[in-house]
Amino acid sequence: MTTQPEYKQGPKTQDGAQTEPRRYLVNIDSISTPQLFTDCLVIGGGIAGLRAAIEAAEHCNVIIICKDTIKNSNTAKAQGGIASVLSKADTFESHIADTLKTGCGICDEAIVDLVIRQGPSLVEQLLQWDTEFDLVDGHIATTLEGGHSYPRVAHAHGDETGRIILEALIKKVRQNSNIRILEHFFAIDLLTNDDNKCIGMVGHDNNRSHQIIWAANTILATGGAGRLYRETTNPEVATGDGIAMAYRAGAVLQDLEFVQFHPTTLYIAGATRALITEAIRGEGAVLLDNKGRRFMKDFDEAAELAPRDIVSRAIITQMRKTETTHVYLDVRHFDKSYFAKRFPHINELLESFDIDIAHDLIPVRPSAHYMIGGVKTDSLAKTSIENLYACGEIASTGLHGANRLGSNSLLEGLVFGKTAGKAASQGTEASAAHLKHPLIKYRIPHSDRTRLDADDVRNSLRALMWRNLGITRWAQLLGETQEIISFWQRYVMDKIFDSPDGWECQNMLTACLLMAQSAQKRQESRGVHFRNDFPKTDDEHFRKHIEIVR
Ligand code: FUM
Repeated sequence: MTTQPEYKQGPKTQDGAQTEPRRYLVNIDSISTPQLFTDCLVIGGGIAGLRAAIEAAEHCNVIIICKDTIKNSNTAKAQGGIASVLSKADTFESHIADTLKTGCGICDEAIVDLVIRQGPSLVEQLLQWDTEFDLVDGHIATTLEGGHSYPRVAHAHGDETGRIILEALIKKVRQNSNIRILEHFFAIDLLTNDDNKCIGMVGHDNNRSHQIIWAANTILATGGAGRLYRETTNPEVATGDGIAMAYRAGAVLQDLEFVQFHPTTLYIAGATRALITEAIRGEGAVLLDNKGRRFMKDFDEAAELAPRDIVSRAIITQMRKTETTHVYLDVRHFDKSYFAKRFPHINELLESFDIDIAHDLIPVRPSAHYMIGGVKTDSLAKTSIENLYACGEIASTGLHGANRLGSNSLLEGLVFGKTAGKAASQGTEASAAHLKHPLIKYRIPHSDRTRLDADDVRNSLRALMWRNLGITRWAQLLGETQEIISFWQRYVMDKIFDSPDGWECQNMLTACLLMAQSAQKRQESRGVHFRNDFPKTDDEHFRKHIEIVR
């Protein structure tokens, strides 16, 4: 057995406040904490996590942990679909070209090629696994979305694609005796040994309090971070925990300045923001301002089907010009029964607000949708930490570059889920139960500093991010953002919380600070990152990734 040093202080400001998060958020004593053992631990139950678990379970035993129920993730909310070359008239070259063009010069071309070529067989496999894709003449039906030069987006039950794919994957994991699912289990921190290898995780389950899961290999599939913003399409679980956890463990992160804003989120003051899929624009919906004027042609010749960054910026520019809080999506020309069949979820949502699509316009505006950056991974889904893999939204594979092509994310989760599962299940013959684990004793000193109200900090942080790190950015506000976050950190990062709300708040502060630092460093505009003070793309200095490591 080896022991890890007790608490090591990170850098401090002049008044003695901690500026770096601690290595672990909680006290750990591995002798007295309940323990589980597994060959492969998957943290997260979206498309990437479940696909990874299914693959890994071919060779070893797997535990999947989910922060909420297995049904609650960004995947479950995905409407538009999954992009792939599914028709003979479409080509890999065309899908690759669209992805590279949208990615604005910093996609990893080898990864783009790999993901797009593996796509069709894995989508067809989902169909064989009983995913109820919408079909035409027995083949998967496809539609058009912004940035795609061919209708290649497969969908299921109209606009319920993510939920339907998830249902099929959940059925598959539940049938597999090699897979154990732990729901309502909050991953607090990745555990690493003295050689900086990942050896599992310390978490918290609803019944037992803290628990250690020792794992030969760990796959991070914690999903996105939309909840770092006041306006978002993401569910409550998407608080960027994976970013913060990986940072504390010492993993290399990249591209954290690239946050994709979805142009059309239903905007009804007081109501939760809900995604209005881009597929509606793909099928002919247009955007109007408060005077009823179609404005997208002023900004891009592809109009409503321009890439998302262009449409989002156009909408906020038009909102400012017309001094309004939103614009409108016009679907009045759609056949009402076709709309109800093609977009059943949205139709129900609109009806619940008494919006009659035959007569009324749909109020929309952009909101935070997808975290492009994350934990840096290679073509085998490996991170910079040995025995730690990442896939799905938490991973930064290089597929999306500086802007993600719509519906490429479910595809990426599927492909890299499988890759991570395969890679993480190899070499685990010696069951994790027989591995030697270090004794971990980690003590956090008591802090007398005032306690801030964590809920208030979260809400203020989300508002700050929306104002200062939103669709457009500039140096002064990025600097101010870092100062404010550092101030809150002094009073939040020194505490030991005992419930997910507190750990989430600590994770959110860490993730937001890293994002602000990355956005400050990228002194140019590229893809979804638009700097008012550097409006041009600067290939000479910034055709590269911005990496952050603790
Ligand atoms: O508009 C949408 O349905 C979103 C798709 C995506 O984010 O890939």
